[in-house]
Amino acid sequence: MPEFGETEVLWALHPDAWGCGYATETARAALESGFSALGLERIFAITWPDNRPSQAVMTRLGMMYRKNVAYKGIEAVWLEIERESWLGCMAG
Ligand SMILES: CC(C)(COP(=O)(O)OP(=O)(O)OC[C@H]1O[C@@H](n2cnc3c(N)ncnc32)[C@H](O)[C@@H]1OP(=O)(O)O)[C@@H](O)C(=O)NCCC(=O)NCCS
Repeated sequence: MPEFGETEVLWALHPDAWGCGYATETARAALESGFSALGLERIFAITWPDNRPSQAVMTRLGMMYRKNVAYKGIEAVWLEIERESWLGCMAG
């Protein structure tokens, strides 16, 4: 995202596909690709503070809360995961 100078992972599913684990499964593949194939050092995700389902996806992926940021003039929560942490999780 040019606004932040970092790489974001994000997701949005049709409501018919909620509650099946698809967001977490595909985001996990995206993170693996970002760290292993692209060699990124860090990947972040932001969402509105009240978007609990999206934050649940983030935490299932091992992403950690870092800060609140202003996005398009609205407060958002920022979670991220570092390459070292991701590769450590995969190894463990
Ligand atoms: C954010 C969003 C993708 C989350 O969808 P989700 O279905 O909750 O997330 P997942 O696909 O990872 O599914 C996880 C759920 O599937 C359940 N599940 C069922 N079968 C499963 C399986 N075989 N494997 C894994 N999880 C399974 C999990 O228990 C979990 O349910 P829970 O939250 O009640 O515990 C969805 O709410 C959405 O598209 N929202 C609108 C767009 C949006 O807000 N995007 C984010 C912008 S930042």
